[in-house]
Amino acid sequence: MNAYYLTTPIFYVNAQPHLGHAYSTVVADAVCRYQRLLGKDVRFQTGTDEHGDKIVHAAADAEVSVKEYVDKISAMFKAAWPGLAIVPDTFVRTTDPAHMAVVQDILQQVYDRGDIYFSEYTGLYCKGCEQFLTEKELVNGKCPDHLTEPERISEQNYFFRMSKYQEWLIDHISKNPEFITPERYRNEVLSFLKEPLEDLCISRPTTRLTWGIPLPFDSRFVTYVWFDALINYLSGLGYPAGENFARYWPAAEHVIAKDILKPHAIYWPTMLKAMGLEPYKKLHVHGYWNMNETKMSKSLGNVVRPGELVAEFGADSVRYFLLREMSFGLDAGFSHEAMVARHNSDLTNDLGNLFSRSLTMVKNFAASTVPQPGTPSDQDQELAEATLAMLTHYREHLDHFAFHRALAAVWEVISRANKYIVTTQPWELAKEPQQADRLGTVLYTLLETLRLITLTLHPIMPETAAKMAEALGVAGENNLADCGVWGRLVPGAPITPGPQLFPRLQREEKEKSQPPKAKAMKEPAVAKASAPEIAPEAEGLVTFDAFQKLELRVAEIIAAEKIPKSDRLLKLTVKAPEERTIVAGIAQHYQPEELVGRQVIIVANLKPAKLMGVASHGMVLAAKEGDQLVLSALSGPVAPGSRVA
Ligand code: ME8
Ligand code: MG
Repeated sequence: MNAYYLTTPIFYVNAQPHLGHAYSTVVADAVCRYQRLLGKDVRFQTGTDEHGDKIVHAAADAEVSVKEYVDKISAMFKAAWPGLAIVPDTFVRTTDPAHMAVVQDILQQVYDRGDIYFSEYTGLYCKGCEQFLTEKELVNGKCPDHLTEPERISEQNYFFRMSKYQEWLIDHISKNPEFITPERYRNEVLSFLKEPLEDLCISRPTTRLTWGIPLPFDSRFVTYVWFDALINYLSGLGYPAGENFARYWPAAEHVIAKDILKPHAIYWPTMLKAMGLEPYKKLHVHGYWNMNETKMSKSLGNVVRPGELVAEFGADSVRYFLLREMSFGLDAGFSHEAMVARHNSDLTNDLGNLFSRSLTMVKNFAASTVPQPGTPSDQDQELAEATLAMLTHYREHLDHFAFHRALAAVWEVISRANKYIVTTQPWELAKEPQQADRLGTVLYTLLETLRLITLTLHPIMPETAAKMAEALGVAGENNLADCGVWGRLVPGAPITPGPQLFPRLQREEKEKSQPPKAKAMKEPAVAKASAPEIAPEAEGLVTFDAFQKLELRVAEIIAAEKIPKSDRLLKLTVKAPEERTIVAGIAQHYQPEELVGRQVIIVANLKPAKLMGVASHGMVLAAKEGDQLVLSALSGPVAPGSRVA
């Protein structure tokens, strides 16, 4: 069976989309792209949930008609997704007449089978949840999600015989370990099911609420919003007729956060059972994005707007951050600083540098074509094998929604490849004609590694992966099994280096609050005050104390670029161990791509100076011999920031 069907929750239209909604939708989009890469026939559905009390209140607050309100907010959700490179196949609105008709059909069908009955009920109702809560679910008498006291409500209503399916549900969950994952949520549901399940109230009297789908068998009532909303997963497939339902329903999987576990793990499978349908295949449950330790939520107002992040970082960087930073199933904290850090270190430094260095070398040393590889050495083979092993791990992790693990595996290869450049030194090989074979092998190995990395990035960062694929001449590669093998690049094929993949972002916070060590740079201790001490005696000797004032440290170059309009200066970004910029007059002696990954010795407490408009924080030590200039180096790897004395 080749079909795959994945849904996000359909979001309430009582407020604009925030990062939490974006996360579920990015996850679903990434998984759908991944499944397509595996050759699956994929359908990806999202939408908006537009009935119920909450929406009516939000519209009243906004002083517009409910219809006008839901149209506006639903359109905002729909418009938010393309900016994040999210491309759903269907967008369901519960106010669509087609959806409403399906809900009514199902209600009638379940009613006719005797699984819906009329009765009186008294219970604790939370308006925020639009649900009756049990005493056990309350924390200090309040709804744990909305921090409000539920109202005790007593009224006549229609009920769905959910209790009838309790044993079946327990059995189904027990027999299908992957039905609800991660496991903690499966356990949570099983433990909830240890208590007798109550029947579900599925109607609201029109005296209290009219904004809903009328019950087909009693017009004095509208449908409870959850009984309406869950059915979107079927109505979006054209249930009950239509080829899409037959094709995709057997492959249905849902992505949700833990806030709506109960409706999805208990109401929904029992509803499906009552309809005589197979349950969905899998429910994937994630945790919360927190802001300052509390759940990001519209009711608390501590939200981040996805559009603002995209404007600052770009869609791919936001997608990468969301998928890399959260372990699916657990909560994660959002901070702007963490975003900048991921962007600069993982994307600009690690991936961006690997890509631009490799392609620049192919341009300079192989006339922008895929070189002919010679016999691989152990070192080349090691990188090739690590890359292929990564592909296997990547698949295992993505199959289980472990995005952060999949990405950690890809980034380990990126870091290996960067080290491979440092140790193979292609720029040295390029100087010696008898090393042409070796140079070809090294560059070919790098290009193949990049091609396979690109393949893994299609689901995660579609725009970046497309740019990379274009540059590598493999824009047509769209299948992980066929293309995930070593050696597909054809010698002689053109390589077209494009612009930088990710611009480096300035870390404003860092510049403002300088660490204590950096402060020392501001004091002119070395440059001026110590000058008399450095030459106290005629012989030009300095005291040990004077030498001690000079702060020499090991720095690792993590980025290097030419400074426009200067043929002498390079702008280096180094780790020492904090990140800093140093301008060095070495452009006539070193190419930027041969510098990244090197360790050098710097004067860390030199007074900052501006050179060609770029602020330089320190100086790189180098030896001079006539016209020659050779950078300082260490005889073995050392932790960046180590003191040199
Ligand atoms: O519950 N962290 O809609 P909703 C992670 N209409 N994900 C978050 C989040 C956060 N801080 N905040 C929201 C509803 N989400 C119903 C669903 S489905 C048939 C009906 C995401 O607008 C997450 O996916 O309250 C969560 O489950 C969903 O938004 C709740 O969205
Ligand atoms: Mg909610």
